[in-house]
Amino acid sequence: MRVLVLGGTRFVGKVLVEHAISCGHHVTTFNRGRTGQDVSGAENLRGDRENEADLHELVHGREWDWVIDTSGYVPLIVGNAARLLSGRAGAYSFLSTVSVYPSWPGEPISEDSAVYECSPEMPGTAEDEANWTAAQYGAYKAGCERAVLDAFDGQVTILRPGVILGPQENVGRLTWWLRRIERGGKVLAPGDPGKPIQPIDVRDLAAFVLTCLKDGTAGTFNVVPPKNEATFGRMLSACVAETRSDAELVWVRDDFLASRGVRQWTEIPLWRTPAGTWAVDAGKAAAAGLRCRPIEETVRDTYAWLSRTEILSGYDRQSHHGISVDKEQALLEEWRSG
Ligand SMILES: NC(=O)c1ccc[n+]([C@@H]2O[C@H](COP(=O)([O-])OP(=O)(O)OC[C@H]3O[C@@H](n4cnc5c(N)ncnc54)[C@H](OP(=O)(O)O)[C@@H]3O)[C@@H](O)[C@H]2O)c1
Repeated sequence: MRVLVLGGTRFVGKVLVEHAISCGHHVTTFNRGRTGQDVSGAENLRGDRENEADLHELVHGREWDWVIDTSGYVPLIVGNAARLLSGRAGAYSFLSTVSVYPSWPGEPISEDSAVYECSPEMPGTAEDEANWTAAQYGAYKAGCERAVLDAFDGQVTILRPGVILGPQENVGRLTWWLRRIERGGKVLAPGDPGKPIQPIDVRDLAAFVLTCLKDGTAGTFNVVPPKNEATFGRMLSACVAETRSDAELVWVRDDFLASRGVRQWTEIPLWRTPAGTWAVDAGKAAAAGLRCRPIEETVRDTYAWLSRTEILSGYDRQSHHGISVDKEQALLEEWRSG
Protein backbone atom coordinates (compact mmCIF):
# COMPACT_ATOMS: atom_id res chain seq x y z
CA MET A 1 0.00 0.00 0.00
CA ARG A 2 1.01 3.66 -0.44
CA VAL A 3 1.18 5.18 3.04
CA LEU A 4 1.63 8.84 3.95
CA VAL A 5 2.89 9.51 7.48
CA LEU A 6 2.50 13.11 8.68
CA GLY A 7 5.59 13.26 10.89
CA GLY A 8 7.46 9.98 10.70
CA THR A 9 10.94 10.85 11.92
CA ARG A 10 10.59 10.71 15.71
CA PHE A 11 9.43 8.08 18.25
CA VAL A 12 5.86 6.95 17.36
CA GLY A 13 5.96 8.12 13.77
CA LYS A 14 9.44 6.73 13.15
CA VAL A 15 8.56 3.32 14.59
CA LEU A 16 5.40 3.30 12.47
CA VAL A 17 7.40 4.07 9.34
CA GLU A 18 9.94 1.34 10.11
CA HIS A 19 7.15 -1.16 10.75
CA ALA A 20 5.24 -0.21 7.60
CA ILE A 21 8.36 -0.54 5.45
CA SER A 22 9.13 -3.93 7.01
CA CYS A 23 5.60 -5.01 6.02
CA GLY A 24 6.35 -4.09 2.40
CA HIS A 25 4.40 -0.82 2.20
CA HIS A 26 5.61 2.18 0.20
CA VAL A 27 5.94 4.99 2.72
CA THR A 28 6.09 8.75 2.24
CA THR A 29 6.93 10.93 5.23
CA PHE A 30 6.16 14.64 5.52
CA ASN A 31 7.91 16.85 8.09
CA ARG A 32 10.10 19.95 8.39
CA GLY A 33 13.39 18.03 8.73
CA ARG A 34 13.92 19.72 12.06
CA THR A 35 13.70 17.32 15.02
CA GLY A 36 14.01 13.70 13.91
CA GLN A 37 15.80 11.32 11.60
CA ASP A 38 14.64 10.09 8.22
CA VAL A 39 14.04 6.36 7.90
CA SER A 40 15.90 4.88 4.99
CA GLY A 41 13.60 3.27 2.49
CA ALA A 42 10.93 5.96 2.90
CA GLU A 43 10.30 8.80 0.47
CA ASN A 44 11.04 11.81 2.68
CA LEU A 45 9.28 15.05 1.76
CA ARG A 46 9.85 18.34 3.55
CA GLY A 47 7.26 20.90 4.54
CA ASP A 48 5.45 22.52 7.45
CA ARG A 49 1.90 21.29 8.03
CA GLU A 50 1.08 24.68 9.59
CA ASN A 51 1.75 26.27 6.18
CA GLU A 52 -1.10 25.71 3.70
CA ALA A 53 1.15 26.23 0.67
CA ASP A 54 3.38 23.37 1.86
CA LEU A 55 0.33 21.12 2.23
CA HIS A 56 -0.84 21.98 -1.29
CA GLU A 57 2.61 21.13 -2.62
CA LEU A 58 2.56 17.82 -0.74
CA VAL A 59 -0.72 16.63 -2.26
CA HIS A 60 -0.13 18.03 -5.77
CA GLY A 61 -0.25 15.09 -8.18
CA ARG A 62 -0.02 12.49 -5.41
CA GLU A 63 -2.38 9.88 -3.97
CA TRP A 64 -2.12 7.40 -1.13
CA ASP A 65 -4.11 4.47 0.19
CA TRP A 66 -3.60 5.34 3.85
CA VAL A 67 -2.69 8.46 5.83
CA ILE A 68 -1.29 8.14 9.34
CA ASP A 69 -1.26 11.45 11.22
CA THR A 70 1.12 11.32 14.18
CA SER A 71 1.82 15.04 14.45
CA GLY A 72 -1.58 16.70 14.78
CA TYR A 73 -2.15 18.99 17.79
CA VAL A 74 -4.16 21.99 16.56
CA PRO A 75 -7.70 21.38 15.24
CA LEU A 76 -7.71 23.90 12.37
CA ILE A 77 -4.33 22.67 11.13
CA VAL A 78 -5.36 19.03 11.32
CA GLY A 79 -8.62 19.81 9.52
CA ASN A 80 -6.70 21.54 6.69
CA ALA A 81 -4.63 18.40 6.07
CA ALA A 82 -7.63 16.05 6.33
CA ARG A 83 -9.62 18.18 3.85
CA LEU A 84 -6.80 18.33 1.32
CA LEU A 85 -6.18 14.59 1.62
CA SER A 86 -9.86 13.74 1.30
CA GLY A 87 -10.31 12.16 -2.12
CA ARG A 88 -6.54 11.63 -2.41
CA ALA A 89 -6.39 8.82 0.18
CA GLY A 90 -8.78 6.07 1.22
CA ALA A 91 -8.25 5.99 4.97
CA TYR A 92 -7.01 8.35 7.68
CA SER A 93 -5.62 7.22 11.05
CA PHE A 94 -5.28 9.95 13.66
CA LEU A 95 -3.02 9.53 16.69
CA SER A 96 -4.90 11.04 19.59
CA THR A 97 -4.62 10.37 23.34
CA VAL A 98 -6.56 9.34 26.47
CA SER A 99 -6.08 12.97 27.56
CA VAL A 100 -9.20 13.80 25.47
CA TYR A 101 -11.24 12.54 28.45
CA PRO A 102 -11.51 15.31 31.09
CA SER A 103 -12.24 12.60 33.67
CA TRP A 104 -8.84 10.97 33.02
CA PRO A 105 -6.87 10.24 35.18
CA GLY A 106 -9.40 10.81 37.96
CA GLU A 107 -11.83 8.08 36.98
CA PRO A 108 -11.89 4.84 34.98
CA ILE A 109 -12.72 5.49 31.31
CA SER A 110 -13.98 3.73 28.22
CA GLU A 111 -14.53 5.00 24.69
CA ASP A 112 -18.04 6.00 25.82
CA SER A 113 -16.71 8.49 28.38
CA ALA A 114 -17.25 12.19 27.62
CA VAL A 115 -14.46 14.05 25.77
CA TYR A 116 -13.55 17.74 25.90
CA GLU A 117 -15.65 20.22 23.96
CA CYS A 118 -13.37 21.91 21.45
CA SER A 119 -14.19 23.38 18.07
CA PRO A 120 -12.73 21.56 15.05
CA GLU A 121 -11.84 25.05 13.82
CA MET A 122 -9.77 26.09 16.84
CA PRO A 123 -6.70 27.86 15.40
CA GLY A 124 -3.18 28.03 16.82
CA THR A 125 0.32 26.67 16.53
CA ALA A 126 1.90 23.55 18.03
CA GLU A 127 5.34 25.20 18.30
CA ASP A 128 5.10 25.30 22.10
CA GLU A 129 3.08 22.06 22.52
CA ALA A 130 5.63 20.53 24.90
CA ASN A 131 4.69 23.22 27.42
CA TRP A 132 0.89 23.03 27.12
CA THR A 133 -1.19 22.06 30.14
CA ALA A 134 -2.78 18.60 30.12
CA ALA A 135 -6.20 20.24 29.70
CA GLN A 136 -5.15 22.26 26.64
CA TYR A 137 -3.47 19.23 25.08
CA GLY A 138 -6.54 17.06 25.71
CA ALA A 139 -9.06 19.63 24.53
CA TYR A 140 -7.12 20.41 21.34
CA LYS A 141 -6.74 16.70 20.58
CA ALA A 142 -10.52 16.28 20.96
CA GLY A 143 -10.96 19.17 18.50
CA CYS A 144 -8.47 17.51 16.13
CA GLU A 145 -10.46 14.26 16.22
CA ARG A 146 -13.62 16.19 15.23
CA ALA A 147 -11.71 18.03 12.51
CA VAL A 148 -10.63 14.75 10.88
CA LEU A 149 -14.11 13.25 11.14
CA ASP A 150 -15.67 16.40 9.64
CA ALA A 151 -13.14 16.94 6.85
CA PHE A 152 -12.07 13.49 5.64
CA ASP A 153 -14.40 11.58 3.36
CA GLY A 154 -13.33 7.97 3.84
CA GLN A 155 -12.40 5.51 6.55
CA VAL A 156 -11.32 7.28 9.78
CA THR A 157 -9.70 5.55 12.73
CA ILE A 158 -9.02 7.50 15.91
CA LEU A 159 -6.40 5.98 18.20
CA ARG A 160 -6.21 7.09 21.82
CA PRO A 161 -3.08 5.63 23.43
CA GLY A 162 -2.24 6.03 27.07
CA VAL A 163 1.42 6.53 27.89
CA ILE A 164 3.70 5.09 25.18
CA LEU A 165 7.02 3.41 26.03
CA GLY A 166 9.59 1.34 24.16
CA PRO A 167 12.69 1.78 22.02
CA GLN A 168 13.16 5.33 20.69
CA GLU A 169 11.06 6.87 23.50
CA ASN A 170 11.98 10.56 23.60
CA VAL A 171 10.04 11.85 26.60
CA GLY A 172 12.33 10.45 29.31
CA ARG A 173 10.04 8.10 31.21
CA LEU A 174 11.23 4.48 31.08
CA THR A 175 14.57 5.75 29.80
CA TRP A 176 14.92 7.84 32.97
CA TRP A 177 14.17 4.79 35.15
CA LEU A 178 16.70 2.67 33.27
CA ARG A 179 19.45 5.27 33.65
CA ARG A 180 18.62 5.80 37.34
CA ILE A 181 18.56 2.11 38.16
CA GLU A 182 21.72 1.51 36.12
CA ARG A 183 23.54 3.89 38.51
CA GLY A 184 22.61 1.57 41.40
CA GLY A 185 22.34 2.12 45.14
CA LYS A 186 19.09 2.70 46.98
CA VAL A 187 16.44 3.76 44.51
CA LEU A 188 13.23 5.49 45.58
CA ALA A 189 10.40 3.35 44.18
CA PRO A 190 7.00 5.05 44.44
CA GLY A 191 3.88 3.60 46.03
CA ASP A 192 2.84 -0.02 45.86
CA PRO A 193 4.89 -2.50 43.78
CA GLY A 194 1.66 -4.36 43.00
CA LYS A 195 0.02 -1.29 41.44
CA PRO A 196 -1.23 -2.19 37.94
CA ILE A 197 0.03 -0.03 35.05
CA GLN A 198 -0.98 0.10 31.36
CA PRO A 199 1.82 1.59 29.24
CA ILE A 200 1.60 0.60 25.58
CA ASP A 201 4.74 -0.52 23.75
CA VAL A 202 5.23 1.72 20.72
CA ARG A 203 5.73 -1.35 18.51
CA ASP A 204 2.37 -2.80 19.59
CA LEU A 205 0.74 0.56 18.88
CA ALA A 206 2.37 0.67 15.43
CA ALA A 207 1.22 -2.87 14.64
CA PHE A 208 -2.34 -2.02 15.72
CA VAL A 209 -2.48 1.10 13.54
CA LEU A 210 -1.55 -0.99 10.51
CA THR A 211 -3.90 -3.84 11.52
CA CYS A 212 -6.84 -1.41 11.56
CA LEU A 213 -5.88 0.02 8.18
CA LYS A 214 -5.37 -3.41 6.64
CA ASP A 215 -8.63 -4.76 8.06
CA GLY A 216 -10.61 -1.64 7.13
CA THR A 217 -11.45 -1.00 10.79
CA ALA A 218 -12.90 2.45 11.39
CA GLY A 219 -13.88 3.89 14.77
CA THR A 220 -12.34 5.15 17.97
CA PHE A 221 -10.11 3.03 20.19
CA ASN A 222 -8.32 3.40 23.49
CA VAL A 223 -4.95 1.81 22.79
CA VAL A 224 -3.63 0.41 26.05
CA PRO A 225 -2.84 -3.09 27.30
CA PRO A 226 -5.46 -4.92 29.37
CA LYS A 227 -5.93 -3.77 32.95
CA ASN A 228 -4.24 -5.70 35.76
CA GLU A 229 -1.40 -7.26 33.77
CA ALA A 230 1.80 -5.26 34.22
CA THR A 231 2.64 -3.70 37.58
CA PHE A 232 5.01 -0.92 38.65
CA GLY A 233 6.97 -3.53 40.59
CA ARG A 234 7.41 -5.75 37.55
CA MET A 235 8.58 -2.81 35.48
CA LEU A 236 11.21 -1.66 37.98
CA SER A 237 12.36 -5.23 38.76
CA ALA A 238 12.86 -5.73 35.03
CA CYS A 239 14.96 -2.53 34.99
CA VAL A 240 17.15 -3.95 37.77
CA ALA A 241 17.50 -7.28 35.95
CA GLU A 242 18.29 -5.76 32.56
CA THR A 243 20.82 -3.22 33.80
CA ARG A 244 22.45 -5.84 36.09
CA SER A 245 22.93 -3.08 38.65
CA ASP A 246 23.14 -3.39 42.41
CA ALA A 247 20.09 -1.15 42.75
CA GLU A 248 17.91 -1.79 45.77
CA LEU A 249 14.32 -0.66 45.28
CA VAL A 250 13.00 1.07 48.38
CA TRP A 251 9.21 1.30 48.11
CA VAL A 252 7.91 4.50 49.65
CA ARG A 253 4.20 5.08 50.30
CA ASP A 254 2.22 7.38 48.01
CA ASP A 255 1.00 9.60 50.85
CA PHE A 256 4.54 10.18 52.13
CA LEU A 257 5.66 11.35 48.68
CA ALA A 258 2.54 13.43 48.13
CA SER A 259 2.93 15.16 51.49
CA ARG A 260 6.51 16.14 50.51
CA GLY A 261 5.25 17.78 47.33
CA VAL A 262 6.87 15.33 44.92
CA ARG A 263 5.42 16.02 41.46
CA GLN A 264 3.56 13.05 40.03
CA TRP A 265 4.13 11.84 36.45
CA THR A 266 7.18 14.01 35.83
CA GLU A 267 9.45 14.30 38.88
CA ILE A 268 8.97 10.57 39.42
CA PRO A 269 8.22 9.41 35.89
CA LEU A 270 5.11 7.25 35.44
CA TRP A 271 4.11 7.57 39.13
CA ARG A 272 0.54 8.79 39.34
CA THR A 273 -2.01 8.08 42.07
CA PRO A 274 -5.51 9.07 40.76
CA ALA A 275 -7.76 6.04 40.56
CA GLY A 276 -8.37 6.17 36.82
CA THR A 277 -4.75 6.52 35.67
CA TRP A 278 -4.37 2.84 34.88
CA ALA A 279 -8.06 1.96 34.60
CA VAL A 280 -8.57 2.54 30.88
CA ASP A 281 -10.89 0.07 29.20
CA ALA A 282 -8.94 -1.73 26.49
CA GLY A 283 -11.51 -4.31 25.40
CA LYS A 284 -12.53 -2.65 22.15
CA ALA A 285 -8.97 -2.47 20.79
CA ALA A 286 -8.23 -6.02 21.93
CA ALA A 287 -11.30 -7.23 20.02
CA ALA A 288 -10.03 -5.36 16.93
CA GLY A 289 -6.64 -7.08 17.08
CA LEU A 290 -4.43 -5.14 19.52
CA ARG A 291 -1.78 -7.50 20.93
CA CYS A 292 0.49 -6.36 23.76
CA ARG A 293 3.85 -7.76 24.74
CA PRO A 294 4.86 -8.21 28.41
CA ILE A 295 6.39 -5.18 30.14
CA GLU A 296 9.65 -7.12 30.61
CA GLU A 297 10.12 -7.21 26.83
CA THR A 298 9.55 -3.46 26.58
CA VAL A 299 12.13 -2.86 29.33
CA ARG A 300 14.64 -5.26 27.76
CA ASP A 301 14.43 -3.79 24.28
CA THR A 302 14.39 -0.20 25.49
CA TYR A 303 17.58 -0.81 27.46
CA ALA A 304 19.21 -2.53 24.50
CA TRP A 305 18.33 0.48 22.33
CA LEU A 306 19.45 2.96 25.00
CA SER A 307 22.77 1.16 25.35
CA ARG A 308 23.63 1.56 21.70
CA THR A 309 22.31 5.05 21.09
CA GLU A 310 23.09 8.63 21.99
CA ILE A 311 20.37 9.75 24.39
CA LEU A 312 18.24 12.15 22.46
CA SER A 313 18.36 15.66 23.66
CA GLY A 314 16.69 18.84 22.62
CA TYR A 315 13.14 17.70 23.25
CA ASP A 316 11.58 20.15 25.71
CA ARG A 317 9.63 17.53 27.66
CA GLN A 318 12.77 15.63 28.76
CA SER A 319 13.79 18.48 31.03
CA HIS A 320 10.52 18.08 32.96
CA HIS A 321 11.30 14.48 33.96
CA GLY A 322 13.23 12.95 36.84
CA ILE A 323 14.02 13.72 40.47
CA SER A 324 17.45 15.02 41.51
CA VAL A 325 19.76 12.58 43.29
CA ASP A 326 19.99 14.90 46.30
CA LYS A 327 16.24 15.13 46.70
CA GLU A 328 15.78 11.39 46.19
CA GLN A 329 18.38 10.52 48.82
CA ALA A 330 17.00 13.10 51.29
CA LEU A 331 13.52 11.61 50.90
CA LEU A 332 14.88 8.09 51.42
CA GLU A 333 16.74 9.20 54.53
CA GLU A 334 13.61 10.78 55.97
CA TRP A 335 11.53 7.70 55.07
CA ARG A 336 14.04 5.39 56.78
CA SER A 337 14.26 7.45 59.93
CA GLY A 338 10.48 8.01 60.10
N1 LIG B 1 4.45 9.97 23.86
C1 LIG B 1 3.38 9.50 24.45
O1 LIG B 1 3.45 8.86 25.53
C2 LIG B 1 2.02 9.72 23.82
C3 LIG B 1 0.89 9.29 24.51
C4 LIG B 1 -0.37 9.41 23.90
C5 LIG B 1 -0.47 9.95 22.63
N2 LIG B 1 0.64 10.39 21.97
C6 LIG B 1 0.47 10.94 20.62
O2 LIG B 1 1.30 10.20 19.75
C7 LIG B 1 1.62 11.01 18.60
C8 LIG B 1 3.07 10.87 18.26
O3 LIG B 1 3.87 11.50 19.23
P1 LIG B 1 5.44 11.64 19.00
O4 LIG B 1 5.93 12.31 20.24
O5 LIG B 1 6.00 10.37 18.61
O6 LIG B 1 5.60 12.56 17.74
P2 LIG B 1 5.25 14.08 17.51
O7 LIG B 1 6.05 14.92 18.39
O8 LIG B 1 3.86 14.39 17.60
O9 LIG B 1 5.62 14.28 15.99
C9 LIG B 1 6.88 14.50 15.62
C10 LIG B 1 6.96 14.35 14.12
O10 LIG B 1 6.14 15.30 13.44
C11 LIG B 1 6.98 16.18 12.68
N3 LIG B 1 6.41 17.53 12.79
C12 LIG B 1 6.26 18.26 13.92
N4 LIG B 1 5.72 19.46 13.62
C13 LIG B 1 5.54 19.48 12.29
C14 LIG B 1 5.03 20.45 11.37
N5 LIG B 1 4.60 21.65 11.78
N6 LIG B 1 4.94 20.13 10.06
C15 LIG B 1 5.38 18.94 9.61
N7 LIG B 1 5.89 17.97 10.43
C16 LIG B 1 5.96 18.25 11.74
C17 LIG B 1 8.35 16.04 13.30
O11 LIG B 1 9.40 16.34 12.39
P3 LIG B 1 10.01 17.84 12.26
O12 LIG B 1 10.15 18.40 13.65
O13 LIG B 1 11.30 17.61 11.59
O14 LIG B 1 9.04 18.61 11.44
C18 LIG B 1 8.37 14.56 13.64
O15 LIG B 1 8.58 13.77 12.51
C19 LIG B 1 1.22 12.43 18.97
O16 LIG B 1 0.07 12.76 18.25
C20 LIG B 1 0.92 12.38 20.46
O17 LIG B 1 -0.12 13.26 20.80
C21 LIG B 1 1.88 10.29 22.54
